[in-house]
Amino acid sequence: MLLSAKHLFKTYLLAHSEIRVLQGVNLEVAHGETVAIIGRSGAGKSTLLHTLGGLDRPQAGSVEIDGVPLYHGRQKTCNAIRSKKIGFVFQSYHLLPEMTITENVLLPALSGPHPPWRVLRERALTLLAQVGLAERAEHKPPELSGGEQQRAALARALVNDPGLILADEPTGNLDAVTGRQVIDLLFKLSKVRGLSLVMVTHSPDLARLCSRVFELRDGRLFDFMSQ
Ligand SMILES: Nc1ncnc2c1ncn2[C@@H]1O[C@H](COP(=O)(O)OP(=O)(O)OP(=O)(O)O)[C@@H](O)[C@H]1O
Ligand SMILES: [Mg+2]
Repeated sequence: MLLSAKHLFKTYLLAHSEIRVLQGVNLEVAHGETVAIIGRSGAGKSTLLHTLGGLDRPQAGSVEIDGVPLYHGRQKTCNAIRSKKIGFVFQSYHLLPEMTITENVLLPALSGPHPPWRVLRERALTLLAQVGLAERAEHKPPELSGGEQQRAALARALVNDPGLILADEPTGNLDAVTGRQVIDLLFKLSKVRGLSLVMVTHSPDLARLCSRVFELRDGRLFDFMSQ
């Protein structure tokens, strides 16, 4: 299994209350498999994705990526595994506006020991060509359309050659046609590279593109296809 999450529990503690978000989530994702997660707003989909990807530590349960436990060690270990093995795509792109698209793409490759700048730049430019942004490499994010920014974010997610892509409503800010183009590109690149994909979406049409669909409800995942 590329991703194995067991008995995940996550509760947010507020001043006078607590919000139980994940209440025993189990999920296994094989190499090259695509999984969609749907659920109402506030169900905890983003929390789950962050927990699966090492961005938000659960109170209980375990996550293994390629057999390596994410949360057993220190935060530093978790960060190292995350940056090496996982690429994130967010609804609102999360590109740094002051940097060029090329710099944005190679930024995740700068953490830890890394090849020289020249090599990283070539890698970023190759990825930008693959997402159809070769001409825009020196532009800054505000000069790009939403679809172009999300394609740059796809290139950034791939820069460390991860085994897993976690995408949180990657088309949420895009019109239907542009969204579909981004998704087609995401699936094509994932397939060519044999990547696993876990995608949160509100769109049943996009969810159906994945090999399995789960609904997050009452803090747990339910197989949506068999309901
Ligand atoms: N850092 C936080 N502190 C406190 N509560 C939080 C925090 N993050 C999320 N929550 C709460 O946890 C619940 C789940 O939030 P989450 O963002 O995971 O939902 P979601 O399913 O992604 O919703 P949406 O579809 O609107 O993006 C919500 O009730 C939210 O208010
Ligand atoms: Mg969300």
